[in-house]
Amino acid sequence: MPRYALITGASSGIGLALAEALARRGRHLLLVARQRDVLESVACELTQRFGVEVLFRYCDLAEPLHVSGLLMDLEQGELDIDLLVNNAGIGTSGAYVDQDWGREQELLELNVLAMARLCHGIGGLMARQGGGQILNVASVAGFQPGPWMSNYYASKAYVLNFSEGLREELRPRGVKVSVLCPGPTRTAFFRGAHLEVGGLEGSKLMLSPEEVALETVRALEKDRAIIIPGWRNRVAAFLPRLAPRWLVRRLAGRIIRRFAQP
Ligand SMILES: NC(=O)c1ccc[n+]([C@@H]2O[C@H](COP(=O)([O-])OP(=O)(O)OC[C@H]3O[C@@H](n4cnc5c(N)ncnc54)[C@H](OP(=O)(O)O)[C@@H]3O)[C@@H](O)[C@H]2O)c1
Repeated sequence: MPRYALITGASSGIGLALAEALARRGRHLLLVARQRDVLESVACELTQRFGVEVLFRYCDLAEPLHVSGLLMDLEQGELDIDLLVNNAGIGTSGAYVDQDWGREQELLELNVLAMARLCHGIGGLMARQGGGQILNVASVAGFQPGPWMSNYYASKAYVLNFSEGLREELRPRGVKVSVLCPGPTRTAFFRGAHLEVGGLEGSKLMLSPEEVALETVRALEKDRAIIIPGWRNRVAAFLPRLAPRWLVRRLAGRIIRRFAQP
């Protein structure tokens, strides 16, 4: 029976680049997101270019019932998922209490609950079968608090800590767990989060999604626990450990506020 890598948020950005990098390595894929037409054309293109089987499925992962449906279909369809990539995520910015609660809830449903649920369902199947691999996408934001993006930063701290814990729990059961912590990456993420980062677009501070994906698949092959693409981002993830927390949150707040659109 063929085995598939399930990638959430594979219709754009980092998820799309990961899909291409994995297809290039001969992996069969199951792509999940909401833009059905985009998924369909990505699936056609990857099949043609790399000769792999690419399935796709519409799913709004911020809707718990859709996540249940996806898990049920996977169990009944007997698709063998040996790599789960929890990549789909959104950001919000601005003073938390002034934001629309619906959007903040959507962030938590998607970034935290859908990720945790898929790890529980698919990770459980992998553990029972004695093998598999999970990659959760956090962020360098997960290493520190982020005023004016408090909910997003906290969601990524959850993904980071949860993934590290899960790695230890699942290692004796043959399941490898890694967490990807990208720094600023040239995708549609910033527009969706209402962040104005025009000045950073051409700078070396931003990697392309393809650069992130290439470093990630190489690190996955080596079963790295925490994957931080780009040396600048590795420094950025380490620095908060050297300074007192009050200073870290104060500085982070000043920087993020400059990018958050009023
Ligand atoms: N870009 C950065 O600088 C950066 C840095 C660190 C971490 N990250 C993380 O990287 C991950 C990917 O983000 P990206 O930068 O590649 O952004 P992106 O280009 O906006 O991609 C987001 C993906 O998530 C999917 N998605 C959004 N809401 C969804 C929902 N309700 N249900 C299912 N899929 C949904 C989108 O597909 P549909 O619209 O088709 O549903 C899209 O494929 C996120 O977890 C993000 O937090 C990004």
